[in-house]
Amino acid sequence: MAGIFVYVIIFLITLVSYRLLRKQKKESHGTSTHQLPPGSTGWPYIGETLQLYSQDPNVFFAAKKKRYGEIFKTHILGCPSVMLASPEAARFVLVTQAHLFKPTYPKSKERLVGPAALFFHQEDYHTRLRKLVQASLSIEAIRNLVPDIDALAASALDSWHGGHVVNTFHEMKKFSFDVGILLIFGRLEARYREELKKNYFIVDKGYNSFPNNIPGTAYKKALLARKRLSKILSDIISERKEKRLLEKDLLGCLLNSKDEKGEVLTDDQIADNIIGALFAAQDTTASVMTWIVKYLHDNPKLLEAVKAEQKAIRRLNEEGNQPLSWSQTRNMPITYKFILETLRMASIISFTFREAVADVEYKGYLIPKGWKVMPLFRNIHHNPEFFTDPQKFDPSRFEVAPKPNTFMPFGSGVHACPGNELANLEMLVVTHHLVSKFRYCFENHICQ
Ligand code: HEM
Repeated sequence: MAGIFVYVIIFLITLVSYRLLRKQKKESHGTSTHQLPPGSTGWPYIGETLQLYSQDPNVFFAAKKKRYGEIFKTHILGCPSVMLASPEAARFVLVTQAHLFKPTYPKSKERLVGPAALFFHQEDYHTRLRKLVQASLSIEAIRNLVPDIDALAASALDSWHGGHVVNTFHEMKKFSFDVGILLIFGRLEARYREELKKNYFIVDKGYNSFPNNIPGTAYKKALLARKRLSKILSDIISERKEKRLLEKDLLGCLLNSKDEKGEVLTDDQIADNIIGALFAAQDTTASVMTWIVKYLHDNPKLLEAVKAEQKAIRRLNEEGNQPLSWSQTRNMPITYKFILETLRMASIISFTFREAVADVEYKGYLIPKGWKVMPLFRNIHHNPEFFTDPQKFDPSRFEVAPKPNTFMPFGSGVHACPGNELANLEMLVVTHHLVSKFRYCFENHICQ
């Protein structure tokens, strides 16, 4: 009984000090002529984290928007935050005033990816790295990858034959990992590829687990696997340096880069950016490809149209004994609109995080220095003002270009995704093989 009493007292003291601290903080911002955005910051410490993660995020955001409007404050994952649900606000944070908002990630995740990866940075270092990554992902670079990506997709999907159950997301992850390796290293010796794959998947597994140093936990295993990845990458880098090859893949771009003082990148900087590119490229593309498989199933009429488009291409290639070409992938209008609608509906990157580097004023509200700022892509993509009947899966809406800043599956501004063209290419190639090699069988036993 006495124990419970002590706990109650501790809880009350914590609550009162927390409230006092917040009042003090509010008063210190009170020197500004602007007020904080409307909204609620929930429970002490946990804020509204449980509300956000225990329900459909669409419901959480929609309820907030209805109550408070396009800009509101909350408190999630231990941080006071401002959420922004309008295209203008997203543009303000990501494009026009991007210098006032820095990227922000938990330290535990930064340790796993590697602190020198470009997306943790701003300004000169970010600009330098971004140019290199963009060069390896330019149209000129990726058009040469079509035959290899085509072969990887064909072999990935061939392994689905034989009547066994496959986990679509895991299969898509294996495929997007292989494409990532191709982008980074060109052709890589099988022993290196297998070692990278084995350790990368351990890091991936620990990425969203509780960070700690206890042996045997997923996070600790991930840290150890990350160390092994550095060693493997350092061996590959030494071999490349010895051979003095001038390759155009990402590793080649990183190795050959010199800044204005003639300084080259260190092996650690190169390794962090290679792991960073794999992380940015893999789960994202694999998730969208998994949604494609589902939406094709859910919309039989659209499946028929996509199938007709892809089968016509396949027939042509079979007649001329030709593989899929770059120009064919640029001329798949029905499939491409299907992919755009999948990107909108699934909005797999629901929002992104930035941190205000100074007190910022937006539309009469104060965004205090140090607060997290979250442009809500999913909310914008599901707003009936910009997308009529937003819950309806309707690729024909993309016959007309969306209004500016209303469609941002790949983000916007200085940190926008440099891999968008590669991702589109992967999704088109996989869809080509999926619908021309397999049939969907529905509950009514009709297969198509
Ligand atoms: C459908 C698949 C993909 C989606 C939906 C996606 C989405 C995004 C988004 C929304 C951002 C911006 C994040 C922010 O502003 O905080 C981003 C950044 C990034 N993406 Fe992608 N991405 C995809 C595939 C890829 C691929 C294939 C690559 C290839 C390497 C890639 C590499 C990157 C990199 C390096 C960044 C960081 C850019 C920077 O900070 O300057 N992504 N991605």
